[in-house]
Amino acid sequence: MDVAVFSAKPHDRQFLEQANGGRHRLTFIEARLSDETARFTDGAGAVCAFVNDDLSAPVIATLAATGTKLIALRSAGFNHVDLAAAEAAGLTVARVPAYSPHAVAEHAVALILTLNRNTHRAYNRVREGNFALEGLLGFDLAGKTVGIVGTGLIGQVFARIMLGFGCKVIASDPYPNAQIAAEGVRYVPLDELFGASDIISLQCPLTPETHHLIDDAAIAKMKRGVMIINTSRGAVVDASAVIRGLKSGVIGALGLDVYEEEAALFFEDLSARAIVDDVFARLLTFPNVLITGHQGFFTREALTAIAETTIGNISAFESTGAPLHPVSAKPL
Ligand SMILES: NC(=O)c1ccc[n+]([C@@H]2O[C@H](COP(=O)([O-])OP(=O)(O)OC[C@H]3O[C@@H](n4cnc5c(N)ncnc54)[C@H](O)[C@@H]3O)[C@@H](O)[C@H]2O)c1
Repeated sequence: MDVAVFSAKPHDRQFLEQANGGRHRLTFIEARLSDETARFTDGAGAVCAFVNDDLSAPVIATLAATGTKLIALRSAGFNHVDLAAAEAAGLTVARVPAYSPHAVAEHAVALILTLNRNTHRAYNRVREGNFALEGLLGFDLAGKTVGIVGTGLIGQVFARIMLGFGCKVIASDPYPNAQIAAEGVRYVPLDELFGASDIISLQCPLTPETHHLIDDAAIAKMKRGVMIINTSRGAVVDASAVIRGLKSGVIGALGLDVYEEEAALFFEDLSARAIVDDVFARLLTFPNVLITGHQGFFTREALTAIAETTIGNISAFESTGAPLHPVSAKPL
């Protein structure tokens, strides 16, 4: 099958070619999928897209008109796809429902440990010969309460790691998981989670219900000094509200791997340009904010699994007309 791979970085080429083993004809296109670039597919039966590719109705219409039959997402999340438009245009959408939950969960832990013990600041200080400890004070994780919003694949792995640190772990999820509850996670209503947590980690999908879940009203319910970690999707957090929370001191630390307007920033080297997003630029000024550019998934194991499942989806679609992991409905 001819496959046009959008947003293709060198690592995408490496892992996809390895998983493909010559089965499909892969064309790697560095550009993001957009209204402008959709016509580069040149009749490819499948389009392979990532999290910041544009899969809105007009792009889907162009893809359908140029002969695309399958959209194979290299991601678990599919909030960026207009599924109704895809269905109406007769396009099948596939995703990678699970690759390495460890990759994202461990990255959330990396953000927590860095923010808590200020290793991001200590690194620079020590290189400049500054061995002062003022401003680097952290807290023991043992005994602290960690609140997890969303105990799916990633949330469960994260919960087990935090239980291992000796934390009390509470969670909120419309579908509580009996196994993780048996291991020590206590399910509570969301408001109770906001009020009781020292650290809040977001591991839910972006849906109409979770859009701006962390807003002024939610922050007002939190403990003073709370740490908020978001490795899910940017729009789960209202960035302007967390800036107010940081300024007032209610939010003591903020770790973001995702940002609502990340499509204009992430995955590119913009170091020689001015950042025109003033909200993002303001977030970067806080010493207690740590932002990574959507790298939670970025481990060898996760990239191998993403590539293998993606090629599996394309092969199954080619031979049976149905991918292994179709996206059939909107998330919860
Ligand atoms: N940073 C990254 O690189 C990266 C990588 C992969 C996934 N993600 C994000 O992480 C999210 C979670 O991934 P996953 O594999 O654990 O998904 P999953 O589908 O296994 O789990 C999601 C969980 O969230 C719960 N949920 C849904 N709505 C909720 C709500 N309103 N409140 C609380 N919980 C709710 C679901 O019931 C489910 O248990 C993905 O949707 C994606 O947005 C980020």
